[in-house]
Amino acid sequence: MSDEPTPTDNGLAARLRAATDAAHRAAESTPYVTALIDGQVNRAGYAALVAQHYFIYETLEQAAEAMRDDPVAGPFVVDELTRLPRLAEDLAFLLGPGWREEIAPNAATEAYRQRLREVCFTWPAGFIAHHYTRYLGDLSGGAFVAAAVRRTYEFSGDEGTRFYQFDIASRGRFKREYRARLDALPLDDTEFDRAAEEAVIAFYLNQGVFQELGAATMEAV
Ligand code: HEM
Repeated sequence: MSDEPTPTDNGLAARLRAATDAAHRAAESTPYVTALIDGQVNRAGYAALVAQHYFIYETLEQAAEAMRDDPVAGPFVVDELTRLPRLAEDLAFLLGPGWREEIAPNAATEAYRQRLREVCFTWPAGFIAHHYTRYLGDLSGGAFVAAAVRRTYEFSGDEGTRFYQFDIASRGRFKREYRARLDALPLDDTEFDRAAEEAVIAFYLNQGVFQELGAATMEAV
């Protein structure tokens, strides 16, 4: 027996996963994501995704700082997850030293950031919903994306894909601990339902970003 915390079958983590299952399938099967995994997006199209991530994580990680000392949301804020410096490195690699002047948030990213500003700085369970949607996804499907990107553009090592690398020894163990932390949240059913709805919104906001990227980049493939 290990003393690792174990998520339960009907705890908050399992319910959150079930509540977002359909939205997950919708997000991962958008044409842009499918094309990226299939090696059908050109390098500029991939850089456009990294740029949108930069703006999304800028706001999400500002919220993380605001929530760091919150008794409910604070335990989710761990430095190993911080992505913004890695996105900056990936952009410097992809676009060169003047990268910051070359990127701008698209309309879907602006809508996503607006939602993050509305809920993540003052509502701990809302912050957790957005945190879960991005970071647990990055730790899971992110590995497939990184492998595909390396293969497509023939990047070596972690160049251009630092965003997908984590200083975490065991992702499996980290995710189990994360889910156990979700299960331990002091949320009543109403508050849980609100948080689950917010996670579904987070997935659809991500889908919106992919749709706009697809419209902007796929005809250039
Ligand atoms: C390339 C597209 C994607 C693939 C191949 C993919 C694949 C996966 C896989 C295999 C898992 C299960 C991992 C496990 O059980 O440990 C997972 C979990 C997850 N993914 Fe994705 N995913 C993709 C896109 C996304 C997107 C766009 C998001 C949201 C922005 C997302 C968010 C999540 C979350 C939150 C989980 C954790 C579910 C849970 O266990 O509660 N994924 N993904």
